[in-house]
Amino acid sequence: MLKGKHIIAGISGGIAAYKAAVLVRTLVKSGAEVRVIMTPMAKHFITPLTMATLSGHPVYTDFYNPENGDWNNHVRLGLWADACLVAPATANTLAKMAHGIADNLLLTTCLSMRCPVVAAPAMDMDMWAHPATRSNLQTLQKHGVHIIEPPAGELASGLEGKGRMEEPERIVAFVEQLFVKKKSLAGKTILVTAGPTYEAIDPVRFIGNHSSGKMGYALAESLANRGAQVLLVSGPVALPAPHGVELLRVTAAEEMYAAVIEHFANADAAILCAAVADYTPAQKSAHKIKREKEPLSITLKPTADIAAALGKQKKKNQLTAGFALETYNELAHAQKKLQTKNLDMIVLNSLNDEGAGFGGDTNKITIIKKNGTVTNYPVLPKQKVAEIIVDTVFNLHNEKD
Ligand code: PMT
Repeated sequence: MLKGKHIIAGISGGIAAYKAAVLVRTLVKSGAEVRVIMTPMAKHFITPLTMATLSGHPVYTDFYNPENGDWNNHVRLGLWADACLVAPATANTLAKMAHGIADNLLLTTCLSMRCPVVAAPAMDMDMWAHPATRSNLQTLQKHGVHIIEPPAGELASGLEGKGRMEEPERIVAFVEQLFVKKKSLAGKTILVTAGPTYEAIDPVRFIGNHSSGKMGYALAESLANRGAQVLLVSGPVALPAPHGVELLRVTAAEEMYAAVIEHFANADAAILCAAVADYTPAQKSAHKIKREKEPLSITLKPTADIAAALGKQKKKNQLTAGFALETYNELAHAQKKLQTKNLDMIVLNSLNDEGAGFGGDTNKITIIKKNGTVTNYPVLPKQKVAEIIVDTVFNLHNEKD
């Protein structure tokens, strides 16, 4: 499964380091090329000689070799790697990774990574439960680091609880999944909408909403990471184009409608995450409206419904996924939108849920499929939410093929 993949196996200093021997051996047996980096503390738990023998390559333990001055280039290691696995990841190493501290070769290499970084934490149960560790793990997830949750069981301290490192075979299976997922959407073209729309009242003012684009951009990024060709049609937001994504910037609902309709024919799926205005001023004043004593009324007319239009024109093998942002009767409203817009699935988020909706880095969603199944998820970083949505879209699209 991992044939030809370049894996950095980072080992930090905890008793679970003894399991790194089996881990590296299993990675090599799966066909991976492995380079081991050990922190200074890790050397007290397992020897570099053991790891060099099992990986078939010298082990990196410092920035340079004190005997001949050879520089161990962390940037080159970062470019070489297809995945970086830190196992065991101690509370100390996780804290430093979360804060960008680079005071050993493993941490510096982690900072240089362009590929997925996976951490398999190992520590005592109270350290695992400590608010500092919880917050560091959240930060790492926000940064896109994959965390393999430690299972509960007997710990080196003799206590029973959560904190022991996941077993090597399961860690290897997780790494293998990364590569399967990565390619799962190769050859697919997916259209994503994101952000708000601005409906001009006059040259100065507009009607808009609080969408930051974070959810839609995370979706576009996740799709691109899995090999899809992604066209992101985005309303006005302050985010850069995600890597590997074609970005088309628009302002008003009318422009978003035109762009989406133009490109949908060539798409396998559309994920409609944008918070599109439902109404736009019937007339836009050519000049800035002057302040008067009398109340001002603005007549609004409905915008064209992009999702509904796609629902009408989609072919058998095309999929549409919508979002529903609700404030009351959430499930019923989302189910109605699923039907009226002829969507294959809808992602419900409610402004009544803490950590959900506009602006923040997290979301709490419920996915409702056309067949009626309803699945609730906890509050998660938007990147993780995007992965869940992409997995669901992928599975539904496979059912259509
Ligand atoms: O951008 P963030 O700050 O990260 O916030 C994310 C989000 C809250 C904006 C996102 O998760 C979300 O819920 N997006 C949809 C918001 C919305 O406008 O929902 P709605 O219930 O009003 O619309 C239902 C669906 O119809 C949506 O898929 C919407 O894109 C689509 N629609 C709506 C109006 C319209 N004229 N055309 C449409 O296609």
